[in-house]
Amino acid sequence: MITVENIAVLKDQVARLRQGGKRVALVPTMGNLHEGHLRLMHEARQYAQVVVASIYVNPLQFGKNEDFNSYPRTPGHDKVSLLSARVDVLFKPTEMEMYPRGAAAQTFVEVPGFSEELCGAFRPGHFRGVATAVYRLFSLVKPDVALFGKKDYQQWMLIRQMAADLDLPVEIIGVDIVREPDGLALSSRNQYLTPDERQVAPRLYQALGSLRDRVVQQAAVTPEAEESAMTELETNGFKPEYVAVRRRQDLKPPTAQDRQLVVLAAAWLGRTRLIDNLEFELKP
Ligand code: PAJ
Repeated sequence: MITVENIAVLKDQVARLRQGGKRVALVPTMGNLHEGHLRLMHEARQYAQVVVASIYVNPLQFGKNEDFNSYPRTPGHDKVSLLSARVDVLFKPTEMEMYPRGAAAQTFVEVPGFSEELCGAFRPGHFRGVATAVYRLFSLVKPDVALFGKKDYQQWMLIRQMAADLDLPVEIIGVDIVREPDGLALSSRNQYLTPDERQVAPRLYQALGSLRDRVVQQAAVTPEAEESAMTELETNGFKPEYVAVRRRQDLKPPTAQDRQLVVLAAAWLGRTRLIDNLEFELKP
């Protein structure tokens, strides 16, 4: 595996590896890699002969009072993981490489519609920061395909929309959520949980399951069903931001005709913000 910090070297190396018409996959991450990230690296092999992973804790996507400074950075561990996943190139830009004029002066990408909804309503500027970083990574690596986890469902949809709106020549793949045996979705932020909170954390996934079952049983989405999931979370010690059933195609509230749905939630447990979601279908 080649580790690169510099953009010129990155472009050179990717061009060299691409020779002979090889396809290039990009997996953007913020590091502190776990099995969820590694699933993306492995899946990337199905789409491309060259796999590029990036690690960059992107300041643009963190709010003022969020965890940018304390976000876990584990470069040694990450390198070992990427080697075992047989990644070809690790791109680890410095802030100067990523945003040469400084993060605040960077031209940004905004994806209207997705950015203000759900997580966007609680994290102003977050999705602008994500879209800007990912757009820049796309233009540096020029991947044929890029993989994103459905764990961050809204992020995946937003990137798909960005690629469509800007006609970017990259295929966007969504990869299923990797979970702990008790259902908790793997996340770098899980390590903020105390042992007691860790016991309670899978109840977020359980609440999504109960809401799904209720919607399937009623064959309809009702505000009461969403509210009772919020209450269930509160009873279990969470501070939920939202629990919402949306249609999958654009994350808008479903109409009576929509069948392909997803239930999404974000909730605080102590000082940890957890997100999760569950795709499901209503029978026609
Ligand atoms: P990060 O949180 O490091 O996640 C990198 C990728 O791994 C994302 O596509 C995310 O959805 C995926 N991922 C995380 N946990 C997962 C799990 N349990 N199962 C499956 N996939 C999982 O998301 C980001 O970084 C950043 O916003 C980024 C896209 C890199 C832009 O800065």
